[in-house]
Amino acid sequence: MLYQTHIRIHLDHIRFNINGIRQAIGAERKLLIAVKANAYGHGAVEVSRMAEEIGVDWLGVATVPEGIQLRQAGIHLPILKFSPVFEEEMETAVHNNLVLTVCELENIHALQAASAAAGKRQPVHLKVETGMGRIGVSISEAPALATFIDQHCPNLELEGIFTHLPISDDPDPDYTRGQIQRFKAVAEDIHKAIGRRVDLVHCANSGAVLGHDSGWLDMVRPGVMVYGTYPDPRTPRTIPLKPGMSFYTRVSFLKYVTAGTSIGYGRTWFAPQDTWIGTIPVGYADGFNRLFSNRGRVLINGRSYRLVGRVCMDQSMVDLGPTTDVKVGDEVVLMGRSGDEEITCEEWAQTLNTITYEVTCQINPRVTRVYLH
Ligand SMILES: Cc1ncc(COP(=O)(O)O)c(C=O)c1O
Repeated sequence: MLYQTHIRIHLDHIRFNINGIRQAIGAERKLLIAVKANAYGHGAVEVSRMAEEIGVDWLGVATVPEGIQLRQAGIHLPILKFSPVFEEEMETAVHNNLVLTVCELENIHALQAASAAAGKRQPVHLKVETGMGRIGVSISEAPALATFIDQHCPNLELEGIFTHLPISDDPDPDYTRGQIQRFKAVAEDIHKAIGRRVDLVHCANSGAVLGHDSGWLDMVRPGVMVYGTYPDPRTPRTIPLKPGMSFYTRVSFLKYVTAGTSIGYGRTWFAPQDTWIGTIPVGYADGFNRLFSNRGRVLINGRSYRLVGRVCMDQSMVDLGPTTDVKVGDEVVLMGRSGDEEITCEEWAQTLNTITYEVTCQINPRVTRVYLH
């Protein structure tokens, strides 16, 4: 490994999380895991391969290239693209056997034509807007649109109906309960309108897998919990999870500075006493966020040290104190365990005033991923 800054992907932990979800939801319903955004930074191909081996039923992506990447890696599981396809992407998406989201008439016409040209019957899932405010056909228009697909689009197969839940991770269940009720009712209306039941009615993201079993339906669609964090610190922890990644670098340089010496760009930190400063080869270009400047911490040999000065693009500095036994080459834990100390993804999210989703997605492709089975 030439670049010492790396993340370790704990595929064994991800497998533990998936098995926990499977145990909770039972064998009778399908399990889709979201592997969009490079599996939330954990490596879409590696996670998908493992998922296929252990009996996950479906994968979820955000973009056509994400789906193609999985097909090119030899993944055979059904892949649902969560959002609508543009017309220019349709031929490729159909050719790569991606299951596509539809929610609007003109787009459905275009997809019917692209599927006919490819000589295929293309599976589609109809997205219904029940309270997310992002994409989807309205509840009142959904039965007619479903009927149109079923009766007038011979090259489309209405295989699924789905919706999305924006606050299923909130301890107050009311809004989500209302959404699930509305969604079940519109699914019934669609079934009546087309005279049959579609195979897959689904709405449960991680928050609903954890806190709303009434929304599990035919399939669940967790993402963030697969990778070992709860969607919100207040979400009920009904399924135990283990962290999917840890993040490491090594000390690259040590120096002893006298009190008053400034450290880094902008001269934002001055040594309050004579002290050892360690430099580490990780910066905001790696996903080590610049907001950690003068605020973050790292672990070295089981002890916690403060980051001082600004995080640079590729390097950062740590105050090691007036005496130290830290040496060049020592392992530095940015996220994970060292001795009795731990820096969690949740701690990163809290310090950076964001969510764990963004923390893991932000870790740049430059950072080597080491897969632990
Ligand atoms: C449509 C859809 N389903 C499921 C998920 C997974 O959500 P989560 O990571 O909160 O479990 C997402 C992610 O945003 C999504 O967009």
